[in-house]
Amino acid sequence: MKRLAVLVSGSGSNMQSIADSVNRGILKGLVEIVLVISNNPGAYALERARNENIKAVCIERKSFEDEISFNGAILRELRNAETDIVCLAGYMRMIGREIIRAYRGKMLNIHPALLPKFGGKGMYGRHVHEAVVKSGETKSGATVHFVEEEYDTGKIIVQREVEVFASDTPQDISKRVLAVEHRIYPEAIKKVIEGKV
Ligand code: GRF
Repeated sequence: MKRLAVLVSGSGSNMQSIADSVNRGILKGLVEIVLVISNNPGAYALERARNENIKAVCIERKSFEDEISFNGAILRELRNAETDIVCLAGYMRMIGREIIRAYRGKMLNIHPALLPKFGGKGMYGRHVHEAVVKSGETKSGATVHFVEEEYDTGKIIVQREVEVFASDTPQDISKRVLAVEHRIYPEAIKKVIEGKV
């Protein structure tokens, strides 16, 4: 069994889809979620984690003097939980270099677009879908990739398209993309565990 930790900041619907796959889907018997870390005390993801009986901790940036000690605290929690794989699932902060180094090739992120399109600094949440609408693209999608120091640049593990219609609002695209995210994140984790990347 691989020991998985999930880093979140918001709703945690991706974390929930991973937990569901562990409980009764494609990750059953392969993975155990040992830890959920949120930087945001108000994240609904924390409640979801507790409902699933998963250890959930909040580590807030403002409790630390600087970025280095904040990331140090996260890394300590990950190590204490003997984490094998880290999944960023709607984690809204830049992840520290020391954490990236410690988990290179073992840290995944999900992005709500077809990377390398619509990635990079400032491209998160609704900004992504707004940019897609503006661009006139007829396709968007979701990407699970390894985390490297540069935003959204790591090797792609799974990517899946959704259609974009001329009448779509950013919210319409977001909904369609999120449904795909929920399917491909567990698939990507399975691929990594089985060494199929
Ligand atoms: C997702 O769209 C994900 O791609 C992005 O943030 C959103 C998180 O949603 N990084 P949730 O917290 O998993 O519901």
